[in-house]
Amino acid sequence: MGIKNQDISAEDLIKQINSLKQKREAVILAHNYQPPEIQDLADYTGDSLELSIIAAKTEAKVIVFCGVRFMGETAAILSPEKTVLLPVLEAGCTLADYATAEQVREMKKKHPNAIVVTYVNSSAEVKAESDICCTSANAIDIVRTIDLSRPIIFVSDYNLGHYAAKITKREIILWDGCCPTHALLSTFAVQRARKKWPGAQVIMHPECKPDVLELADFVGSTSGMLRYAKQQPAGASLIVGTEIGLLHRLQKENPDKTFYPASDYLICPMMKMTTLKNVKDSLEKMQYVVTVPENIAMRARAAVNAMLNYKGTPKKSTPPSPPAEKAKGETEISIGVE
Ligand code: 13P
Repeated sequence: MGIKNQDISAEDLIKQINSLKQKREAVILAHNYQPPEIQDLADYTGDSLELSIIAAKTEAKVIVFCGVRFMGETAAILSPEKTVLLPVLEAGCTLADYATAEQVREMKKKHPNAIVVTYVNSSAEVKAESDICCTSANAIDIVRTIDLSRPIIFVSDYNLGHYAAKITKREIILWDGCCPTHALLSTFAVQRARKKWPGAQVIMHPECKPDVLELADFVGSTSGMLRYAKQQPAGASLIVGTEIGLLHRLQKENPDKTFYPASDYLICPMMKMTTLKNVKDSLEKMQYVVTVPENIAMRARAAVNAMLNYKGTPKKSTPPSPPAEKAKGETEISIGVE
């Protein structure tokens, strides 16, 4: 049986996936960090925010989420009437595991007046304890919507929270959590890459450590980096400080530019678990269905929708940001489900 499966060519698997996709009335979503063949197969490839919006809007009956569990959960929260499938049961997120609902409740007790802003890289239970979610694409905008009189607890990525605090000049209560892949990137590696490829710009994800982010020419979400790369002139070269999966799309969409990984170690093992065979099996056997109990989903949905409904108007009590703050590395993106 195992030997037989190994014999199926990628081409045949893709054919089977496409016919199963039609039969199931499914849509395939892939995060920008997925393996190249999965990105190429997907109907939509994007960052966490883009994929959440697509999951909320799609008319497909089944969503196959090629990513990690919290992404599938977010889709299930937003589209409870649809079947959300995660092709690999074990594909989790270490960063999401840094916070539990219990810990968030404890933190809220310590800071009763605080607003809890939670990174989408979190479990449904943690989202349910939160006031509003954010992604790396909109963390700064979301923080700016919070009334200046309210303290902010930022769950659960220390580095993203630190970056948002720096750019918005807000005091933020930070969480002790990080993405182990982004945390691997050191100032030494970036300096070495700059020496190796002089003239190349350095672009980075805000999950990188604060001292490392200081070395970036641009900081943004995975899609923010894609947009930034597109704006560069032909012949430009860029050093990429995020999970290496993004290099596939960067290179594919910018054949006239060159991209280098800031380090060869920026590989998320969870994101790399998905194979074509997993996707085929997922559609064939309808596995693994992601479910979120409605009592949790209801509260988590309020936090995710608070983010999606934000249309970019800061609250009156929040002063407009000075133009200087926009200069370095802020993603400019309009968000919200129209
Ligand atoms: P993006 O929202 O930029 O796609 O990042 C998601 C993520 O999990 C980063 O580690």
